Amino acid sequence: MSIQLDNINCFYGAHQALFDIQLDCPAGETLVLLGPSGAGKSSLLRVLNLLEMPRSGNLQIAGNHFDFQKKPDEKSIRELRQNVGMVFQQYNLWPHRTVLDNLLEAPCRVLGLSHDAAMARAEKLLTRLRLNDFAQRYPLHLSGGQQQRVAIARALMMEPQVLLFDEPTAALDPEITAQIVSIIRELAETGITQVIVTHEVEVARKTATRVVYMENGHIVEQGDASCFSQPQTSEFASYLSH
Ligand SMILES: Nc1ncnc2c1ncn2[C@@H]1O[C@H](COP(=O)(O)OP(=O)(O)O)[C@@H](O)[C@H]1O
Ligand SMILES: [Mg+2]
Repeated sequence: MSIQLDNINCFYGAHQALFDIQLDCPAGETLVLLGPSGAGKSSLLRVLNLLEMPRSGNLQIAGNHFDFQKKPDEKSIRELRQNVGMVFQQYNLWPHRTVLDNLLEAPCRVLGLSHDAAMARAEKLLTRLRLNDFAQRYPLHLSGGQQQRVAIARALMMEPQVLLFDEPTAALDPEITAQIVSIIRELAETGITQVIVTHEVEVARKTATRVVYMENGHIVEQGDASCFSQPQTSEFASYLSH
């Protein structure tokens, strides 16, 4: 099992955003988190690399294990984040660095990879994400879809076992959305585990091998991609029909 959550409860101050979350996802799957705005999708995604700290429960992900009765130490959080990469909704690229330097920075500094080894990784990823022509450009001189591909390449530079995406196609037009969908499908073939938050049902249908449907901080339904044609709950059926 690549990802396992047991009884995860998460709060913002007094506001409970996640209730008793139970979730299993085998390695190599593409798990899509669906649900209306405010359902807790981003909170759940952020728990997976501890950008949000649950108040209670257990998390196992990519060989890392946390029991939130104890406060996790910084070292184990750093290790977790090397195995679990995140592609942020606003891309979060460094504006004053070229695309290539955005890719090289973390593997050299955090993993201590040599410049040559990092360059070799970067060249492969620039090709895979169709970014070869843009290596020397600055992020602000790229389109939204190109910046999104750079953000994905940068996360992959760490060779994570799990890659998290928050609304990767929000704000992209249909043609660029189709490109991101095909990149997610290509990545799935490399064996990486992907977790994708989206509110676009079409994106979910085209990428998901597993589905979690949430409302009000609760998982209402989870299962394999057959959920799309045979939803088990009236809530998910109703969501799909809108
Ligand atoms: N940083 C925060 N501080 C306080 N409340 C938050 C914060 N982030 C999210 N929330 C609340 O937690 C709930 C779940 O939010 P979120 O996980 O962002 O949902 P979704 O991604 O499904 O739209 C919402 O009620 C939201 O208002
Ligand atoms: Mg969200």
